Amino acid sequence: MQVEEMEAYYDKIGFTDWTHALSRAPMLKAQHPDYEVYSTGIHAERGVSCADCHMPYKSEGGMKFTDHHIQSPLNNVANSCQVCHREETATLVKNVYDRQDKVHEIRTELEDNLVRAHVEAKNAWGLGATEDQMQDILMDIRHAQWRWDYAAAGHGNSFHNPLELSRIISSGNNKIQDARLKLARLLADLGHNQPVDYPDISTKAKAQEYIGLDMAKLNSEKEEFIKTVIPQWLEAAKEREATYPVSVN
Ligand code: HEC
Ligand code: HEC
Repeated sequence: MQVEEMEAYYDKIGFTDWTHALSRAPMLKAQHPDYEVYSTGIHAERGVSCADCHMPYKSEGGMKFTDHHIQSPLNNVANSCQVCHREETATLVKNVYDRQDKVHEIRTELEDNLVRAHVEAKNAWGLGATEDQMQDILMDIRHAQWRWDYAAAGHGNSFHNPLELSRIISSGNNKIQDARLKLARLLADLGHNQPVDYPDISTKAKAQEYIGLDMAKLNSEKEEFIKTVIPQWLEAAKEREATYPVSVN
């Protein structure tokens, strides 16, 4: 259940989701670890479940049932948070946003360092670095980005457990700084003892261009998908749902 345990398992079986096109680091992709991080948080420790916040009770026609419209609890603070907390809605919302903003701040710093490390590694390859010289560095990048992704892919986790997420992000930052120290030394050994020229990736379009995506092709494939595949899904859903029992709503 811990970020380090998952990483150790993936390392042991030599698993890689994809190879990074710039640095050639063997990357891992985190898949929404909401449950794992939530389970280490204060609400889990006090026995508060996902459904307490995301599926609060509602009453209709004298019947009490859980709301199956799973959504942000902030759309319904009265029935989710205020069942237990006495604070005003605005205070509870602020408590959530404060935690999200602070986690976002350090996660962005880790992200900036990751981008730089990928570019530095690309330059090292370009100057003739060997697999042997890069091995350790690429593992540091893998481990640091695994932590970034773990923090980014669990969408509710900066509230579910801000402390655990901050711990994960800060260890990611240590790992990427290790990688960048090693890269600075390696680049110097390879004859480049200057600051590295980082690309301008200040917009999404510039970043896409830098990594060499053929956006014209990808966008036209997406258009085609929206036109042809999605209508089939909607049709299938309509047929399926026509067989469901009529709801009280
Ligand atoms: C079923 C009860 C319950 C519900 C529902 C609930 N909480 Fe809590 N919350 C707790 C308990 C218990 C604690 C731990 C505090 C303690 O034990 O003194 C806690 C702690 C907190 C803390 C402090 C955590 C920290 O970071 O140290 C915040 C903030 C908080 N809740 C906000 C919310 C918000 C926002 C919601 C709605 C989305 C919510 N809670 C829903 C019971 C609940
Ligand atoms: C104490 C209340 C509480 C509990 C318990 C809780 N969550 Fe959340 N969850 C929240 C809050 C608050 C947010 C942030 C909502 C926002 O930003 O609008 C959130 C966000 C999320 C999101 C992101 C939603 C989005 O639109 O990005 C997901 C997914 C999620 N939670 C899943 C879970 C799961 C799964 C569990 C149990 C394993 C769980 N939550 C337990 C309060 C809770």
